[in-house]
Amino acid sequence: MQEQIYLNGSFVTKEEAKISVMDRGFLFGDGVYELIPVYNGKPFLLDKHLSRLDNSLAMIEIKKFSNEFRIKEIIAEIISKNKYRNHFIYIQITRGIHADRQHIYQSKIDPSVLVMGQFSKPYTFEEIKNGFKAIIHEDYRWRRANIKSTSLLGNVLLKNHAAKQGMYETILIHNDKVTEGSASNIFFVKDNKVYTPRLGNELLSGVTRNLILELLQSNKYHVEESEVTKGEIKSADEIWCSSSTNPIAPIIEVDGVSVNNGIIGNVTLATHKLVSDFISKY
Ligand code: PDD
Repeated sequence: MQEQIYLNGSFVTKEEAKISVMDRGFLFGDGVYELIPVYNGKPFLLDKHLSRLDNSLAMIEIKKFSNEFRIKEIIAEIISKNKYRNHFIYIQITRGIHADRQHIYQSKIDPSVLVMGQFSKPYTFEEIKNGFKAIIHEDYRWRRANIKSTSLLGNVLLKNHAAKQGMYETILIHNDKVTEGSASNIFFVKDNKVYTPRLGNELLSGVTRNLILELLQSNKYHVEESEVTKGEIKSADEIWCSSSTNPIAPIIEVDGVSVNNGIIGNVTLATHKLVSDFISKY
């Protein structure tokens, strides 16, 4: 059987799924999304992702979606129909379809809802153990990066800025402060203390970020959510990026300069183990 996805009330194949050109997601990027990893057939930290989705929807004033919807059952159905083991589940919700293209939105329209899977091979320790390179760039995205919006052009350009140079991630700076990565949150270690930028409108409240903070705190690490300057990143002992796609991505070079002589540090390794153990027990 061909892979099934869910679109606006029906299960269809990716080839069959069609969406109107008048959908505001297409015309304006007017929508939000979530990416939920599935490990061994089970969605990881589903409630945390769904609560962030609710927040994103509330922040862009899509009201009709919440509560009315059986999203958990749809995810379970997608996983079982397609026999997913290790996949990502994407939930993409746009404001819906208007008769005219106009900026002002009406509250009457029904959101468009897509739930689909994409194969993913979780990173092994072998694949991360040599670390990754990063580059620093001005964060020129809009100033509401706390909304997990499908309007990702800034992120897309900034991720490609790194990729074109054979690098893993672009670390973003606004007003001399680190906000996040183009598709991840940023952590750094100085003198065995762990720091990550404090939450605000400028960065996403990463589900992986928040899990790492909890795990480190309960294991008696010194962790701080604070303002992180470009200078601090440049003189860090260790750096890693966190995201659902690669929970701990150690960074061993920033802007061509080695971090910790290009060797993954002990706090990064310990954090990687805490997160990997948590995932395998989940
Ligand atoms: N994005 N910041 C940005 C800009 C992101 O795109 C992501 C992840 C994160 C980390 O969030 P989380 O830990 O909840 O995955 C932070 C996903 C992977 C994506 O859009 O593909």
